[in-house]
Amino acid sequence: MAASLLLAQNALRLPFHRAVRTRWCGVPALSIYTTAGRMQASQQDFEKAQNDLKTLKKDPGNEVKLKLYALFKQATQGSCNTPKPGMLDFVNKAKWDAWKSLGSLSTDEARNSYVDLVSSLVSSEVPAKDASSSGSGQNYDTLQVVSEDNITKIFLNRPDKKNAITLQMYKEIGLALDEAAKDDSVITVLTGHGDYFCSGNDLNNFTNIPPEGKEKMANDSAVILEAFVSKFIDFPKPLIAVVNGPAVGISVTILGLFDIVYATDRATFHTPFSQLGQSPEGCSSYTFPRIMGLSKAVEVLLFNKLLTANEACKLGLVTEVFPDSTFQKEVWSRLKAYGELPKNSLAYSKQLIRETEKEKLHVVNVQECERLKERWLSEECMNAIISFFQKKAKL
Ligand code: COA
Repeated sequence: MAASLLLAQNALRLPFHRAVRTRWCGVPALSIYTTAGRMQASQQDFEKAQNDLKTLKKDPGNEVKLKLYALFKQATQGSCNTPKPGMLDFVNKAKWDAWKSLGSLSTDEARNSYVDLVSSLVSSEVPAKDASSSGSGQNYDTLQVVSEDNITKIFLNRPDKKNAITLQMYKEIGLALDEAAKDDSVITVLTGHGDYFCSGNDLNNFTNIPPEGKEKMANDSAVILEAFVSKFIDFPKPLIAVVNGPAVGISVTILGLFDIVYATDRATFHTPFSQLGQSPEGCSSYTFPRIMGLSKAVEVLLFNKLLTANEACKLGLVTEVFPDSTFQKEVWSRLKAYGELPKNSLAYSKQLIRETEKEKLHVVNVQECERLKERWLSEECMNAIISFFQKKAKL
């Protein structure tokens, strides 16, 4: 899971945008002309679109980036006639497929489509107040943040992907925690929309390796992971997880940094790190043995043991389990009552409880990220990811 972080970060910035912006910008000037009543994009429009692309604040997603890449290649080089990359060369294969799919589209049409696509991306970023982020003023694509009853509620909001965490989502969760730390809320809650709490890292992030290579990717991703986990270690108010369904990977490991974990009896807790050639993160290598005892933590973190909600509760990872049919009602009415307690008293009490551990947790966080840097570059990890995608492709 944490490996997704690593790969996600680079997926956003490097492979496509950099290529689009720097490698193919020096095409010869074209003149303005019209066909079939549509004003054709000039070379100037095309260059402006390339510059506009650099101003995008939000990642448009891999699908759009592939489309941009393909249109750029088609506009500047014509139809794809390069050899097909090997099936395990994920990034270049995806790029090649996207370019090839444009068939015999003319360079003019490709240039027009490129300009139109960039224009639609830019205009969709015009600032607008997002109704889903009431209270914070911050807009989120992957989260819904609601402030009510003195509670800041952060909902993971990719239910069709089981709330798998993309790079953008890691960043948005960090931002939402920063906002919640400063706002007037008494408590902060993290939960998920849909039937899953979270399925861990979005494994699609593994397929994006930047031109600089895996080492840079591993280093950069470790920085992102460390920063993400630090937000939980340092969070100054009571932080509560409302686990509305199964939890996988990093959505399980960070639970050791929450103050209360309420779960539906439908929830399960799974950290399949060794299946993925990886190692624990979220400070779980320290918090889990302390919470559940060494031998149980070993079963969970090394041997992929899946815990039911009741097992996780018996082991101390979960505070209380509720029947699924009444889960939402019971939990939110209880949290509403917590929200009426004195804010500063709760915050200072939490800080007293957590302060002595903070320094240690930061050290553990750094060590876990260092180990993951090595794991992400390992053959064990690469083989596990390839195997995941091969299984998915066969379905
Ligand atoms: N990364 C990327 N995509 C994910 C994902 C993840 N972690 N978890 C779920 N998805 C996607 C699926 O690929 C699927 O996408 P599709 O509709 O485009 O095919 C969609 O979410 C729904 O998931 P699906 O697998 O159809 O649901 P399911 O109920 O059969 O299984 C899981 C759910 C979570 C058990 C399964 O998706 C899974 O094993 N995901 C990987 C979990 C994982 O290993 N996380 C990292 C831990 S370290």
